[in-house]
Amino acid sequence: MAAYQFQVVYFEATRRCNLRCRFCMTGSNEPKRLRESVLNELTLEQIRDQILRPARRLGVHTIGWSGGEFLLRKDAFDLLRLTVEFGYRCSVLSNCAKLTRARLEQIREVTAGQARIVVGLNSVDEENQWSRDSESGRTLAVLRDCMELGLGQHVVVTIGKYNTESFAKTIEFIVKHNIAYNRSPLVPRGSGAQCFEQLGFDRQDLREHFHPALRRSPHGYVSYTPFFLSPELHAEVSGGARNHTVPQNPAIGCWAGTWLTINAEGEVSVCPVLLDALSAGNVRRQPLDELVASSALFATITDRSRLKGRCGRCRYQYTCGGCRAMAYFHSGDYMGEDPTCFFDPIDRSTVSEHEAQTNEVFRKYLLMARAAGVYRPPASAADDASSRPGLYGRR
Ligand SMILES: C[S@@+](CC[C@H](N)C(=O)[O-])C[C@H]1O[C@@H](n2cnc3c(N)ncnc32)[C@H](O)[C@@H]1O
Ligand code: SF4
Ligand code: SF4
Repeated sequence: MAAYQFQVVYFEATRRCNLRCRFCMTGSNEPKRLRESVLNELTLEQIRDQILRPARRLGVHTIGWSGGEFLLRKDAFDLLRLTVEFGYRCSVLSNCAKLTRARLEQIREVTAGQARIVVGLNSVDEENQWSRDSESGRTLAVLRDCMELGLGQHVVVTIGKYNTESFAKTIEFIVKHNIAYNRSPLVPRGSGAQCFEQLGFDRQDLREHFHPALRRSPHGYVSYTPFFLSPELHAEVSGGARNHTVPQNPAIGCWAGTWLTINAEGEVSVCPVLLDALSAGNVRRQPLDELVASSALFATITDRSRLKGRCGRCRYQYTCGGCRAMAYFHSGDYMGEDPTCFFDPIDRSTVSEHEAQTNEVFRKYLLMARAAGVYRPPASAADDASSRPGLYGRR
Protein backbone atom coordinates (compact mmCIF):
# COMPACT_ATOMS: atom_id res chain seq x y z
CA MET A 1 0.00 0.00 0.00
CA ALA A 2 1.35 3.44 -0.96
CA ALA A 3 2.30 5.72 1.92
CA TYR A 4 -0.08 8.52 2.85
CA GLN A 5 0.80 12.03 1.71
CA PHE A 6 -1.03 15.10 2.99
CA GLN A 7 -0.44 18.76 2.26
CA VAL A 8 -1.95 20.76 5.08
CA VAL A 9 -2.54 20.47 8.80
CA TYR A 10 -5.43 22.66 9.96
CA PHE A 11 -5.23 22.95 13.73
CA GLU A 12 -7.85 24.61 15.94
CA ALA A 13 -5.39 25.13 18.76
CA THR A 14 -7.94 26.73 21.11
CA ARG A 15 -11.72 27.07 21.27
CA ARG A 16 -11.44 30.44 23.02
CA CYS A 17 -12.54 33.45 21.04
CA ASN A 18 -13.13 37.17 21.47
CA LEU A 19 -16.10 37.22 19.07
CA ARG A 20 -19.48 35.48 19.18
CA CYS A 21 -20.33 34.48 15.64
CA ARG A 22 -23.89 33.22 15.29
CA PHE A 23 -23.06 29.73 14.03
CA CYS A 24 -19.45 29.29 15.12
CA MET A 25 -18.49 25.69 14.52
CA THR A 26 -15.82 25.48 17.23
CA GLY A 27 -18.29 25.94 20.06
CA SER A 28 -16.62 29.19 21.13
CA ASN A 29 -20.07 30.37 22.26
CA GLU A 30 -20.75 27.35 24.48
CA PRO A 31 -19.53 28.08 28.04
CA LYS A 32 -19.50 24.50 29.34
CA ARG A 33 -17.67 23.09 26.34
CA LEU A 34 -15.25 25.99 26.47
CA ARG A 35 -14.45 25.45 30.16
CA GLU A 36 -13.70 21.78 29.61
CA SER A 37 -11.66 22.49 26.50
CA VAL A 38 -9.46 25.14 28.09
CA LEU A 39 -8.32 22.61 30.70
CA ASN A 40 -7.58 20.17 27.94
CA GLU A 41 -5.78 22.20 25.25
CA LEU A 42 -2.64 20.62 23.82
CA THR A 43 0.55 22.14 25.17
CA LEU A 44 3.37 23.47 23.01
CA GLU A 45 5.44 20.37 23.78
CA GLN A 46 2.60 18.03 22.77
CA ILE A 47 2.05 20.01 19.58
CA ARG A 48 5.75 19.87 18.74
CA ASP A 49 6.21 16.14 19.42
CA GLN A 50 2.86 14.69 18.37
CA ILE A 51 1.95 16.97 15.45
CA LEU A 52 4.72 19.12 13.99
CA ARG A 53 7.50 16.53 13.99
CA PRO A 54 5.41 13.60 12.66
CA ALA A 55 3.61 15.77 10.07
CA ARG A 56 6.91 16.14 8.19
CA ARG A 57 6.84 12.40 7.61
CA LEU A 58 3.42 12.73 5.96
CA GLY A 59 4.63 15.29 3.41
CA VAL A 60 2.75 18.20 5.02
CA HIS A 61 4.06 21.60 3.88
CA THR A 62 1.67 24.03 5.56
CA ILE A 63 0.34 24.39 9.10
CA GLY A 64 -2.90 26.37 9.33
CA TRP A 65 -3.26 27.78 12.87
CA SER A 66 -6.90 28.28 13.72
CA GLY A 67 -9.32 28.31 16.62
CA GLY A 68 -11.33 29.85 18.17
CA GLU A 69 -8.98 32.75 17.88
CA PHE A 70 -5.51 31.25 17.70
CA LEU A 71 -3.85 34.52 18.66
CA LEU A 72 -5.44 34.29 22.12
CA ARG A 73 -3.03 31.49 22.97
CA LYS A 74 -0.22 32.91 25.10
CA ASP A 75 2.29 30.81 23.17
CA ALA A 76 0.92 31.75 19.72
CA PHE A 77 4.12 33.49 18.64
CA ASP A 78 6.30 30.66 20.00
CA LEU A 79 4.23 28.22 17.97
CA LEU A 80 4.59 30.31 14.82
CA ARG A 81 8.34 30.48 15.35
CA LEU A 82 8.47 26.72 15.85
CA THR A 83 6.43 26.13 12.69
CA VAL A 84 8.98 27.96 10.61
CA GLU A 85 11.90 26.25 12.38
CA PHE A 86 10.41 22.92 11.32
CA GLY A 87 10.44 24.18 7.72
CA TYR A 88 6.68 24.68 7.29
CA ARG A 89 4.82 27.55 5.76
CA CYS A 90 2.12 28.80 8.05
CA SER A 91 -1.31 30.27 7.79
CA VAL A 92 -2.91 32.18 10.62
CA LEU A 93 -6.71 32.13 10.61
CA SER A 94 -8.01 35.14 12.46
CA ASN A 95 -11.22 37.07 13.04
CA CYS A 96 -9.17 40.28 12.68
CA ALA A 97 -10.50 41.87 15.88
CA LYS A 98 -7.04 42.23 17.41
CA LEU A 99 -5.01 42.06 14.23
CA THR A 100 -3.43 45.47 14.38
CA ARG A 101 -0.71 46.51 12.00
CA ALA A 102 1.84 46.07 14.80
CA ARG A 103 0.64 42.51 15.34
CA LEU A 104 0.86 41.75 11.66
CA GLU A 105 4.42 43.06 11.67
CA GLN A 106 5.18 40.82 14.63
CA ILE A 107 3.74 37.81 12.78
CA ARG A 108 5.82 38.70 9.76
CA GLU A 109 8.92 38.92 11.90
CA VAL A 110 8.55 35.63 13.80
CA THR A 111 7.71 33.73 10.60
CA ALA A 112 10.45 35.36 8.51
CA GLY A 113 7.74 36.68 6.21
CA GLN A 114 6.35 33.17 5.61
CA ALA A 115 2.89 33.63 7.12
CA ARG A 116 -0.36 33.92 5.25
CA ILE A 117 -3.28 35.60 6.96
CA VAL A 118 -6.61 33.83 6.44
CA VAL A 119 -9.74 35.80 7.21
CA GLY A 120 -13.43 34.95 7.23
CA LEU A 121 -15.62 37.22 5.13
CA ASN A 122 -19.17 36.08 4.47
CA SER A 123 -20.18 39.23 2.69
CA VAL A 124 -18.34 42.27 1.48
CA ASP A 125 -21.33 44.36 2.69
CA GLU A 126 -22.69 45.28 6.09
CA GLU A 127 -24.59 41.95 6.20
CA ASN A 128 -21.26 40.35 7.17
CA GLN A 129 -21.90 41.40 10.77
CA TRP A 130 -25.01 39.25 11.00
CA SER A 131 -23.09 35.99 10.60
CA ARG A 132 -19.52 36.99 11.52
CA ASP A 133 -20.00 39.30 14.51
CA SER A 134 -17.66 41.70 12.74
CA GLU A 135 -17.96 44.53 10.26
CA SER A 136 -16.62 43.69 6.83
CA GLY A 137 -14.67 46.98 6.99
CA ARG A 138 -12.44 45.61 9.75
CA THR A 139 -11.59 42.51 7.68
CA LEU A 140 -10.96 44.57 4.56
CA ALA A 141 -8.63 46.86 6.50
CA VAL A 142 -6.58 43.84 7.61
CA LEU A 143 -6.38 42.56 4.03
CA ARG A 144 -5.11 45.98 2.96
CA ASP A 145 -2.48 45.99 5.72
CA CYS A 146 -1.34 42.51 4.68
CA MET A 147 -0.90 43.67 1.09
CA GLU A 148 1.16 46.64 2.21
CA LEU A 149 3.28 44.49 4.51
CA GLY A 150 3.84 41.80 1.90
CA LEU A 151 2.01 39.11 3.89
CA GLY A 152 0.00 36.52 1.95
CA GLN A 153 -3.78 36.69 2.19
CA HIS A 154 -6.60 34.22 1.84
CA VAL A 155 -10.35 34.59 2.38
CA VAL A 156 -12.84 31.99 3.64
CA VAL A 157 -16.47 32.57 2.70
CA THR A 158 -18.89 30.43 4.68
CA ILE A 159 -21.91 29.76 2.51
CA GLY A 160 -25.54 29.27 3.46
CA LYS A 161 -28.97 30.69 2.69
CA TYR A 162 -28.00 34.00 4.31
CA ASN A 163 -25.51 34.95 1.57
CA THR A 164 -26.95 33.48 -1.63
CA GLU A 165 -27.68 36.94 -3.03
CA SER A 166 -24.46 38.69 -2.01
CA PHE A 167 -22.06 35.84 -2.83
CA ALA A 168 -21.30 36.82 -6.44
CA LYS A 169 -20.48 40.38 -5.38
CA THR A 170 -18.22 39.16 -2.57
CA ILE A 171 -16.33 36.85 -4.92
CA GLU A 172 -16.02 39.59 -7.52
CA PHE A 173 -14.40 41.81 -4.91
CA ILE A 174 -11.99 39.09 -3.75
CA VAL A 175 -10.98 38.21 -7.30
CA LYS A 176 -10.54 41.86 -8.25
CA HIS A 177 -7.94 42.08 -5.50
CA ASN A 178 -6.32 38.86 -6.73
CA ILE A 179 -6.79 37.02 -3.45
CA ALA A 180 -7.26 33.26 -3.23
CA TYR A 181 -10.33 32.03 -1.40
CA ASN A 182 -12.31 28.95 -0.52
CA ARG A 183 -15.89 28.34 0.39
CA SER A 184 -16.71 26.73 3.72
CA PRO A 185 -20.11 25.01 3.67
CA LEU A 186 -22.21 25.91 6.72
CA VAL A 187 -22.41 22.79 8.92
CA PRO A 188 -24.20 21.79 12.11
CA ARG A 189 -21.01 21.77 14.16
CA GLY A 190 -20.88 23.74 17.43
CA SER A 191 -23.39 26.59 17.31
CA GLY A 192 -24.04 25.72 13.65
CA ALA A 193 -26.27 22.91 14.91
CA GLN A 194 -28.96 25.40 15.85
CA CYS A 195 -29.35 26.91 12.39
CA PHE A 196 -28.20 24.30 9.90
CA GLU A 197 -31.71 23.18 9.03
CA GLN A 198 -32.82 26.72 8.37
CA LEU A 199 -29.65 28.18 6.86
CA GLY A 200 -27.83 25.26 5.24
CA PHE A 201 -27.77 25.65 1.45
CA ASP A 202 -29.44 23.15 -0.86
CA ARG A 203 -28.75 22.02 -4.40
CA GLN A 204 -30.83 24.81 -5.89
CA ASP A 205 -28.84 27.46 -3.99
CA LEU A 206 -25.65 25.81 -5.19
CA ARG A 207 -26.79 25.60 -8.82
CA GLU A 208 -28.24 29.09 -9.06
CA HIS A 209 -26.09 31.21 -6.78
CA PHE A 210 -22.85 29.72 -5.47
CA HIS A 211 -21.60 27.49 -8.25
CA PRO A 212 -21.81 30.04 -11.10
CA ALA A 213 -19.56 32.39 -9.10
CA LEU A 214 -17.21 29.62 -7.92
CA ARG A 215 -16.55 28.21 -11.37
CA ARG A 216 -15.86 31.58 -13.03
CA SER A 217 -12.40 32.31 -11.69
CA PRO A 218 -9.35 30.24 -10.70
CA HIS A 219 -8.98 31.97 -7.32
CA GLY A 220 -11.38 29.55 -5.63
CA TYR A 221 -10.03 26.40 -7.22
CA VAL A 222 -8.25 25.53 -4.01
CA SER A 223 -11.42 23.54 -3.43
CA TYR A 224 -15.13 23.30 -3.93
CA THR A 225 -17.63 20.72 -5.06
CA PRO A 226 -19.16 19.77 -7.43
CA PHE A 227 -15.96 20.15 -9.41
CA PHE A 228 -16.46 19.11 -13.03
CA LEU A 229 -12.82 18.68 -14.00
CA SER A 230 -12.04 16.16 -16.71
CA PRO A 231 -10.19 13.23 -15.09
CA GLU A 232 -8.16 12.90 -18.30
CA LEU A 233 -6.96 16.50 -17.97
CA HIS A 234 -5.94 16.00 -14.34
CA ALA A 235 -4.07 12.81 -15.27
CA GLU A 236 -2.27 14.71 -18.03
CA VAL A 237 -1.08 17.60 -15.85
CA SER A 238 -0.47 15.79 -12.55
CA GLY A 239 1.94 13.04 -13.52
CA GLY A 240 -0.48 10.71 -11.70
CA ALA A 241 0.21 12.14 -8.22
CA ARG A 242 -2.42 11.02 -5.75
CA ASN A 243 -2.99 10.14 -2.13
CA HIS A 244 -4.44 6.68 -2.64
CA THR A 245 -7.32 7.75 -4.92
CA VAL A 246 -7.39 11.44 -3.95
CA PRO A 247 -5.80 13.68 -6.61
CA GLN A 248 -2.71 15.73 -5.74
CA ASN A 249 -0.50 18.03 -7.82
CA PRO A 250 -2.66 19.98 -7.67
CA ALA A 251 -5.14 18.86 -5.04
CA ILE A 252 -8.73 19.62 -6.10
CA GLY A 253 -12.30 18.82 -5.14
CA CYS A 254 -13.14 17.61 -1.65
CA TRP A 255 -10.37 18.25 0.89
CA ALA A 256 -10.73 14.87 2.61
CA GLY A 257 -7.51 13.06 1.79
CA THR A 258 -5.50 16.26 1.31
CA TRP A 259 -5.93 17.86 4.74
CA LEU A 260 -5.36 16.67 8.29
CA THR A 261 -7.41 18.51 10.86
CA ILE A 262 -7.05 18.61 14.62
CA ASN A 263 -9.21 20.11 17.35
CA ALA A 264 -8.07 21.84 20.52
CA GLU A 265 -8.13 18.60 22.52
CA GLY A 266 -6.12 16.68 19.94
CA GLU A 267 -8.80 14.72 18.05
CA VAL A 268 -7.89 14.25 14.38
CA SER A 269 -10.29 14.39 11.45
CA VAL A 270 -10.34 14.70 7.64
CA CYS A 271 -11.73 18.21 7.13
CA PRO A 272 -12.11 21.33 9.30
CA VAL A 273 -15.91 21.15 9.29
CA LEU A 274 -15.89 17.45 10.24
CA LEU A 275 -13.91 18.00 13.46
CA ASP A 276 -15.83 16.91 16.59
CA ALA A 277 -18.04 14.78 14.30
CA LEU A 278 -15.63 12.21 12.81
CA SER A 279 -12.51 11.29 14.76
CA ALA A 280 -9.61 9.14 13.64
CA GLY A 281 -8.09 9.20 17.13
CA ASN A 282 -6.22 11.54 19.45
CA VAL A 283 -2.62 12.71 19.05
CA ARG A 284 -2.12 12.43 22.82
CA ARG A 285 -2.14 8.67 22.35
CA GLN A 286 -0.27 8.37 19.04
CA PRO A 287 1.90 10.67 16.95
CA LEU A 288 0.04 12.03 13.95
CA ASP A 289 1.68 9.85 11.29
CA GLU A 290 1.09 6.60 13.20
CA LEU A 291 -2.47 7.61 13.96
CA VAL A 292 -3.26 8.25 10.30
CA ALA A 293 -1.59 5.04 9.13
CA SER A 294 -3.69 2.93 11.52
CA SER A 295 -6.96 4.78 10.96
CA ALA A 296 -9.96 3.08 9.32
CA LEU A 297 -11.47 6.53 8.65
CA PHE A 298 -8.50 7.65 6.57
CA ALA A 299 -8.26 4.28 4.78
CA THR A 300 -11.89 4.56 3.72
CA ILE A 301 -12.15 8.23 2.88
CA THR A 302 -8.99 8.29 0.76
CA ASP A 303 -10.50 5.56 -1.42
CA ARG A 304 -12.90 7.40 -3.70
CA SER A 305 -13.69 4.18 -5.54
CA ARG A 306 -15.90 3.38 -2.51
CA LEU A 307 -18.15 6.42 -2.91
CA LYS A 308 -21.85 5.65 -3.21
CA GLY A 309 -24.94 6.89 -5.04
CA ARG A 310 -24.44 9.54 -7.71
CA CYS A 311 -20.84 10.17 -6.59
CA GLY A 312 -20.15 6.46 -7.06
CA ARG A 313 -21.24 6.39 -10.70
CA CYS A 314 -19.94 9.82 -11.68
CA ARG A 315 -17.29 10.75 -14.24
CA TYR A 316 -15.96 13.20 -11.60
CA GLN A 317 -15.80 10.65 -8.79
CA TYR A 318 -12.04 11.09 -8.73
CA THR A 319 -11.56 14.79 -9.56
CA CYS A 320 -14.47 16.02 -7.40
CA GLY A 321 -15.27 13.33 -4.83
CA GLY A 322 -18.35 15.23 -3.61
CA CYS A 323 -18.31 17.16 -0.33
CA ARG A 324 -17.85 14.45 2.31
CA ALA A 325 -19.10 16.84 4.98
CA MET A 326 -22.38 17.48 3.15
CA ALA A 327 -22.81 13.71 2.66
CA TYR A 328 -22.19 13.10 6.37
CA PHE A 329 -24.30 15.89 7.81
CA HIS A 330 -27.29 15.21 5.55
CA SER A 331 -27.26 11.40 5.59
CA GLY A 332 -24.92 10.23 8.37
CA ASP A 333 -22.82 8.35 5.76
CA TYR A 334 -19.55 10.08 4.91
CA MET A 335 -19.14 7.89 1.81
CA GLY A 336 -22.66 8.63 0.56
CA GLU A 337 -23.48 10.91 -2.36
CA ASP A 338 -23.24 14.66 -1.88
CA PRO A 339 -26.92 15.63 -1.65
CA THR A 340 -26.20 19.29 -2.42
CA CYS A 341 -24.81 18.42 -5.87
CA PHE A 342 -27.09 19.35 -8.77
CA PHE A 343 -25.51 16.93 -11.27
CA ASP A 344 -27.46 13.75 -12.03
CA PRO A 345 -25.14 11.39 -13.91
CA ILE A 346 -26.66 8.25 -15.45
CA ASP A 347 -23.25 6.66 -15.44
CA ARG A 348 -19.61 7.60 -16.06
CA SER A 349 -20.34 8.63 -19.64
CA THR A 350 -22.51 11.59 -18.52
CA VAL A 351 -20.53 14.81 -19.07
CA SER A 352 -21.44 17.99 -17.23
CA GLU A 353 -22.36 21.04 -19.30
CA HIS A 354 -19.81 22.88 -17.12
CA GLU A 355 -16.83 20.65 -17.85
CA ALA A 356 -15.40 22.74 -20.69
CA GLN A 357 -15.46 25.92 -18.56
CA THR A 358 -14.04 24.08 -15.54
CA ASN A 359 -11.16 22.72 -17.64
CA GLU A 360 -10.42 26.12 -19.13
CA VAL A 361 -10.35 27.92 -15.78
CA PHE A 362 -8.40 25.03 -14.25
CA ARG A 363 -5.59 25.67 -16.74
CA LYS A 364 -5.40 29.24 -15.42
CA TYR A 365 -5.41 27.87 -11.88
CA LEU A 366 -2.37 25.75 -12.73
CA LEU A 367 -0.41 28.95 -13.35
CA MET A 368 -1.48 30.33 -9.96
CA ALA A 369 -0.82 27.02 -8.23
CA ARG A 370 2.59 26.76 -9.83
CA ALA A 371 3.51 30.27 -8.67
CA ALA A 372 2.34 29.32 -5.16
CA GLY A 373 4.44 26.16 -5.29
CA VAL A 374 1.53 23.71 -4.97
CA TYR A 375 1.66 22.51 -8.54
CA ARG A 376 4.70 21.18 -10.35
CA PRO A 377 4.46 20.11 -13.99
CA PRO A 378 5.39 16.41 -14.16
CA ALA A 379 8.69 17.10 -15.96
CA SER A 380 9.94 19.24 -13.06
CA ALA A 381 8.20 17.34 -10.28
CA ALA A 382 11.27 15.67 -8.84
CA ASP A 383 9.80 14.85 -5.48
CA ASP A 384 11.09 17.43 -3.07
CA ALA A 385 8.18 17.99 -0.73
CA SER A 386 10.33 19.90 1.73
CA SER A 387 10.77 22.81 -0.68
CA ARG A 388 7.08 23.23 -1.49
CA PRO A 389 5.43 26.34 -0.14
CA GLY A 390 1.87 26.89 1.06
CA LEU A 391 -1.34 25.67 -0.48
CA TYR A 392 -3.19 28.91 -0.49
CA GLY A 393 -3.10 30.98 -3.67
CA ARG A 394 -0.51 33.62 -4.30
CA ARG A 395 1.99 35.05 -1.87
C1 LIG B 1 -13.94 28.55 13.11
S1 LIG B 1 -13.18 29.94 12.34
C2 LIG B 1 -11.70 30.08 13.30
C3 LIG B 1 -10.75 31.14 12.84
C4 LIG B 1 -11.15 32.57 13.12
N1 LIG B 1 -11.61 32.78 14.43
C5 LIG B 1 -12.20 33.02 12.12
O1 LIG B 1 -13.32 33.24 12.48
O2 LIG B 1 -11.84 33.13 10.94
C6 LIG B 1 -12.61 29.34 10.78
C7 LIG B 1 -13.62 29.48 9.65
O3 LIG B 1 -14.74 28.62 9.92
C8 LIG B 1 -15.91 29.26 9.47
N2 LIG B 1 -17.07 28.72 10.18
C9 LIG B 1 -17.51 29.07 11.40
N3 LIG B 1 -18.60 28.38 11.73
C10 LIG B 1 -18.88 27.57 10.69
C11 LIG B 1 -19.89 26.60 10.44
N4 LIG B 1 -20.86 26.36 11.34
N5 LIG B 1 -19.88 25.94 9.27
C12 LIG B 1 -18.90 26.19 8.35
N6 LIG B 1 -17.92 27.08 8.53
C13 LIG B 1 -17.89 27.78 9.69
C14 LIG B 1 -15.66 30.70 9.79
O4 LIG B 1 -16.52 31.55 9.05
C15 LIG B 1 -14.19 30.88 9.48
O5 LIG B 1 -14.03 31.31 8.16
S1 SF4 C 1 -16.12 31.82 13.71
FE1 SF4 C 1 -14.11 32.48 14.36
S2 SF4 C 1 -14.40 34.60 15.06
FE2 SF4 C 1 -16.37 33.71 14.97
S3 SF4 C 1 -16.77 33.02 17.08
FE3 SF4 C 1 -15.95 31.26 15.87
S4 SF4 C 1 -13.80 31.26 16.21
FE4 SF4 C 1 -14.59 33.28 16.84
S1 SF4 D 1 -22.19 13.47 -8.32
FE1 SF4 D 1 -20.67 13.61 -6.67
S2 SF4 D 1 -18.68 13.30 -7.68
FE2 SF4 D 1 -20.20 13.79 -9.28
S3 SF4 D 1 -20.05 16.00 -9.57
FE3 SF4 D 1 -21.68 15.63 -8.06
S4 SF4 D 1 -20.67 15.78 -6.06
FE4 SF4 D 1 -19.06 15.52 -7.62
